[in-house]
Parts: sequence; structure tokens; C-alpha cells
Amino acid sequence: MQISQALSVTLHDYHPRAADMREEILDGLRAQQKTLPCKYFYDERGSRLFDAICELPEYYPTRIELGIMEAHAADMATALGPRVLLVEPGSGSSVKTCLLLEHLRAPRAYVPVDISREHLVAAADRLNRRYPALEVLPVCADFSQLFALPLPRRPAVRTVIYFPGSTIGNFEPVAALQLLKRLRRLAGRDGGLLIGTDLQKDEAVLERAYNDAAGVTAAFNLNLLRRLNRELQGDFDLSRFRHRAVYNRAEGRIEMHLVSLDDLTVNVADETIRFRADEVVVTEYSYKHTLSGFAALAAQAGLAVKQVWTDDRRWFSVQYLTAG
Ligand code: AVJ
Repeated sequence: MQISQALSVTLHDYHPRAADMREEILDGLRAQQKTLPCKYFYDERGSRLFDAICELPEYYPTRIELGIMEAHAADMATALGPRVLLVEPGSGSSVKTCLLLEHLRAPRAYVPVDISREHLVAAADRLNRRYPALEVLPVCADFSQLFALPLPRRPAVRTVIYFPGSTIGNFEPVAALQLLKRLRRLAGRDGGLLIGTDLQKDEAVLERAYNDAAGVTAAFNLNLLRRLNRELQGDFDLSRFRHRAVYNRAEGRIEMHLVSLDDLTVNVADETIRFRADEVVVTEYSYKHTLSGFAALAAQAGLAVKQVWTDDRRWFSVQYLTAG
């Protein structure tokens, strides 16, 4: 680990290895059921398309979670208590975090953790200027890997991990459990986890959220192929694939697919991949939990649900979990 002074903040840098994208992509495309990992959606263009998704009338999660934060951040701050060390894995631009920070009592430090060094340092610098009294300690690391938390100048009462955005929904049950366990260990014995999870609801509402009329989600999904063309010398013809999102009720998840329109031969990363007409590539799962189902998952990870905040339709939840 390396400590460096960048702009106005001190960066703790674990130099996360740019995951071997080529191997991961090829593993997914060689499999019987083709898959592409959803984390590769977020290149420059993909991140902009995701921001546009969050503004769509059909895409409710961002708006509702923000509403829950606006209505209940003060109550959440009371639940978390004074003098916490607040850690945010995959912090991004930290809009929801500001709502929380404004209400926390004497937070000891804010630790944004992100794999993208430039965005992390820029966001940390902005926060540092906005809240001069708050110690901001950015960590450049892959949150699915092990890393140590930096020590704040003044000791904290507890560590609370803030994990909004229903990112947990992208993980299949076994992986979600592993992630929750890792976050529990990171928070430590007296620690807590404040987590946003999307909830099960009317199928039509769910499917509309991932099949918007303006076609932004389709562009976001197809952008993955465009990225493979650019970064892995692919020759995907984007007009030969279509976007599809369906709710799998048995599994409680939205499944995003790219469907090939004909028999195709594609070259990517020095390999040739064949697609049958109507063959499906799974690009993302987005799990929708029930309150009881999520409590059971948390319990398996050694976490107890202390408090749940939702909107009046119960479409989304923000939950405070503690170890033990
Ligand atoms: C950011 C993972 C929560 O699953 O709803 C939005 C990503 N994919 N539209 C989600 C996404 C398609 C989003 N998460």
C-alpha cells in the first residue's frame, strides 16, 4: 500500500490490478450459456448512459432511494450514532452520501473506496472542500479484494459501511453472502452496514424500468459490445444484437440479455466466437429482494437487521444491519 498526497487529500493506494478483462470476457463468451460481467458496463460512455438511466421516468430505484434518504437521513444518523467512521465501497459521485453526512453527529472520517483512481480523488477533493471539518480518507482498492481501513486522526466509536444503490442486487445469492460477510468483517465487531436494496413488486413495473421507451437501457446494454470492439479489438456488429430485459419470478431477478439476431461469427481478443440465431448472452442480473428474504441472507452473514426505511409503496429499502 502506498500513501500519496493528491490535491487536498491523502490517498491510500492499494494499486488494484486492472482485473484481467480479456480472460474474464473470453471465459464468459466460451461458456455454454454465454455471459458478460456487468461491471464492464461502466466505461466513460457507459457511466454517462447509467446517469441518463437514473433520470428516466420508468427507472424508479434512484429516485425512490434518494427520497428515502431525504425523508429519513436524520433518523439514520441517530441509528448510526455519533463519531462514526463512514466507509463507502464503490463510492462514485457520493450524492446520497452527502444527505447522510449532513446529519451524522461528529463523524470521525469518510472513507470512499473506489477502483477508479481519478474519479475517487476528484470526488474526495470536492467533499473535502465542501466539509472542511470532515477528514476524508480515500482508498483506491477493489472492494471485492481485501484491504485495510486507514485510521482517522481521532478514534471512531464504530465503523459503518454505506452501500447504497442496490449494488448488492447484481450478486447471485452465494456471492452476495460472501460480499456481506466481507463487509461485516470490514466493519468490525461493533460495526454496522447501511445498505440499499431494491424490493420485489409488480412485474410490469420492474420490466418497464429495464425496457424504457427512450431506449437508453438498450444503448447501455449494447455499449458493452462497443467497448469490447474498442478495448479487445472486437468486430461485433451492434445492429445484429438486440437488448432484452425479463423478470425471472422464480429467481426474483431482472435478467438483462443481448440476443443475436442471426447466426454470427465474431472475432474478439484474438478468438472466434459463434452465435446461433436467437442465442442469449446474459449481461446482468438485478435481484429484487423481499424484506424477509434479505433478513435471512443477512443473518447467514452474521448480520441482524436493526432498522428498515422504505417508501410508502415499499418499492425500495434502506436497511441498517449490525454484527451480532
Ligand atoms: C446500479 C446495479 C443497481 O441493477 O438496476 C440499471 C444497473 N442496469 N439499468 C440495476 C442497471 C440496467 C442497476 N444497478
